[in-house]
Amino acid sequence: MARISLRQLLDDAAERNYGVPAFNINNMEQGLAIMEAAKLADAPVIIQASRGARSYANDIMLSKMMEALETMYPEIPLCTHQDHGNSEATCLSAIQHGFTSVMMDGSLEADAKTPASYDYNVAITRRVTDLAHAVGVSVEGELGVLGSLESGHGEVEDGHGAEGKLSHDQLLTDPDQAVEFVRATKVDALAIAMGTSHGAYKFTRKPDGDVLAMHVVEAIHAKLPNIHLVMHGSSSVPQELQAAFNKAGGEMPKTWGVPVEEIVRGIKHGVRKVNIDTDCRLAMAAEIRRVATTNKGEFDPRKFLKPAMDALRVLCKQRFEEFGTAGKAARIKPVSLADMAKRYKSGSLDPQLTGRKAA
Ligand code: G3H
Ligand code: 13P
Ligand code: ZN
Repeated sequence: MARISLRQLLDDAAERNYGVPAFNINNMEQGLAIMEAAKLADAPVIIQASRGARSYANDIMLSKMMEALETMYPEIPLCTHQDHGNSEATCLSAIQHGFTSVMMDGSLEADAKTPASYDYNVAITRRVTDLAHAVGVSVEGELGVLGSLESGHGEVEDGHGAEGKLSHDQLLTDPDQAVEFVRATKVDALAIAMGTSHGAYKFTRKPDGDVLAMHVVEAIHAKLPNIHLVMHGSSSVPQELQAAFNKAGGEMPKTWGVPVEEIVRGIKHGVRKVNIDTDCRLAMAAEIRRVATTNKGEFDPRKFLKPAMDALRVLCKQRFEEFGTAGKAARIKPVSLADMAKRYKSGSLDPQLTGRKAA
């Protein structure tokens, strides 16, 4: 069995200089396609579930599905992660359902809309790390609010996302504050704000440094070379997927996502977890639309979902290859959560805040 904590996986990624895509799932088809891609690429993987996914699929269904994926693909280190937890209860119930990692997103208040104060964020994140680490589970925190530097707005997705106009101070994580935040919360991974947002409509043109602030990633990595960074909103929204979706009757206005080469640049500067949901949705939806328009008599859901799974598998395998995750699964021997808990207790997993990169 190969359930792995986020911390162990990202430590390996840092040691061997690769990034790990974190793909969102809501259903069996997504889970199977992602794991098949991981197997083909010999890649470890993070599968994450949002609060929306948990209520859509039901916690029991979702956790049994994760178990099934783990059993079916024993050779693939699989980290199961709560995406954008909004409270202690969300994070702890994810742990109850077998997740090996949780995100406590204290950048927003519990309503997942109101930007939170720094003190609120530190306090709630620290409470979650204390509890999660006691049972060996990893924690991702977030400092800075996700949203567009072009529009000053967050992208609300399924009820999650900042409302109202945001200042550049809120939209860009401050490197010095990041050091203090990691020290105070002991998070295993830090999600940062640098101009990405959730969903398909991230940028109105191919992004440059004014709207996609990769220099912020570099500045944070320079101060925290031993801390794993997380990029949210990292779908690339490929032009060819937009074209396929629109060719099949979809109506997606032209848009730009985060170019893969910018993510690869991030991986060179400490980004270890790369969150991707929109691209997966788009790849599947384009195929579902294609079948619906080319075979109007079709009514077997499998005839829609099989090609959709094929498209998702191709996309995920490509990301594993682009992020350097491919070929990394075989050497990883998952450490149990019980052993991780002992390591946290001993202090050996405390964040290393020294300026130099660990040997
Ligand atoms: O957090 C953003 C992900 O794309 C999840 O979206 O809340 O619609 O499942 P969702
Ligand atoms: P995208 O919408 O860019 O895929 O981002 C997903 C994400 O960040 C999930 O937390
Ligand atoms: Zn996110």
